[in-house]
Amino acid sequence: MDKVRWGVIGCGGIAARRTIPEFKKMVSNAQIVSVMDISADRAKEVAEQFEVPHWCETEEELLGREIDAVYIATPQDVHCRQVVRAAEAGKHILCEKPMAVSLDEVNRMESACGAAGVKFMLGFCMRNNVYNRKARELVLSGAVGKVVMGRAQLTCWYPPIADAWRQDVSISHGGALIDMGTHCLDILEWIMGAKIVEVAGFHDLLVQKYRTRIEDTSTIVVRFDNGAHGIVDNYFNLPDAAAQNSLELHGTKGSIIAKGSIGQDPTGEMFSILQGEELGYDADQVRDVRAERQEYELEGIGIYGQMIEAFSRCIMEDTAPPVTLDDGRHSVAVTLAIYKSVAEKRVIQVEDQ
Ligand SMILES: NC(=O)c1ccc[n+]([C@@H]2O[C@H](COP(=O)([O-])OP(=O)(O)OC[C@H]3O[C@@H](n4cnc5c(N)ncnc54)[C@H](O)[C@@H]3O)[C@@H](O)[C@H]2O)c1
Repeated sequence: MDKVRWGVIGCGGIAARRTIPEFKKMVSNAQIVSVMDISADRAKEVAEQFEVPHWCETEEELLGREIDAVYIATPQDVHCRQVVRAAEAGKHILCEKPMAVSLDEVNRMESACGAAGVKFMLGFCMRNNVYNRKARELVLSGAVGKVVMGRAQLTCWYPPIADAWRQDVSISHGGALIDMGTHCLDILEWIMGAKIVEVAGFHDLLVQKYRTRIEDTSTIVVRFDNGAHGIVDNYFNLPDAAAQNSLELHGTKGSIIAKGSIGQDPTGEMFSILQGEELGYDADQVRDVRAERQEYELEGIGIYGQMIEAFSRCIMEDTAPPVTLDDGRHSVAVTLAIYKSVAEKRVIQVEDQ
């Protein structure tokens, strides 16, 4: 296979703003041969804008075409049905987060992909950010020592919008947590090489007047299986200009502090203060002169284009995708545990099943 042939299901915000432009600009091992949206006008518009040779408005027509893989970028309430259908048509699948809205859906998606022998990858593209990668490399090399705490934040200003599916809980199944927190929870686990086992938190609707109740304010505490604690904070009610989108890793040998690396841009800022060893007790708590502040200046590459390139390579070389169905299952389990924790006002164990 020379190039993997892709179809796109859902030509809305993320597909047209990020994934398709980066696909066209930077991906060399794949091509987009068709785009589909339930809005025919939208599919046509995107096909024309990005010079895609075919567009359509039904899954049946798209899946009947000669394509090897699909990118599913529709609201999460239809991910399961579309993944099952694409698998049954023999297509490999890259599905946007959140993978699904229940573990039962995950099971059905897994069965369909397994039965058809197709590959599945989840769109946790923040793992492709160059600063997040560097943070992971440092943490896994032991540079911060034993990790004690990680924090990941992603915020935006998201006012009421008529007909926005995210603001209809029957479609979105939640607000800031399921939309943005899922990225943050995954990035902390991935950087630490650890899994979240316990969760607790608060959700509120503090500012926005949505037509159904979803949280615009989500502040979550987690415990990882390496013992470290985590804080994940996501807000739909802070000005975009003020967003820090902080990422912090703190351990017994120092800290890594980034901002802007969790988000759609491939950029960010990061510094570390790492002292190389755990020191003796200093009653004066003087900051050790050997602790050096190091700034990182790294060149970012489109995180959505990288996702397409990586999955295309897996298809061509028949290797396992970098983000797996099990990662998706775990993410759904953690998300559901958090909503349960908030509803029941208690700490919940995450039980992957
Ligand atoms: N990885 C990321 O960084 C990232 C960023 C944004 C959104 N997302 C995810 O991508 C998905 C889409 O989000 P969005 O912001 O692009 O939404 P959006 O509303 O902007 O776009 C969704 C598109 O899907 C179309 N659509 C709806 N139902 C459909 C169906 N049954 N079949 C075909 N098309 C259908 C709509 O007409 C629309 O064009 C969500 O699951 C979201 O969580 C991921």
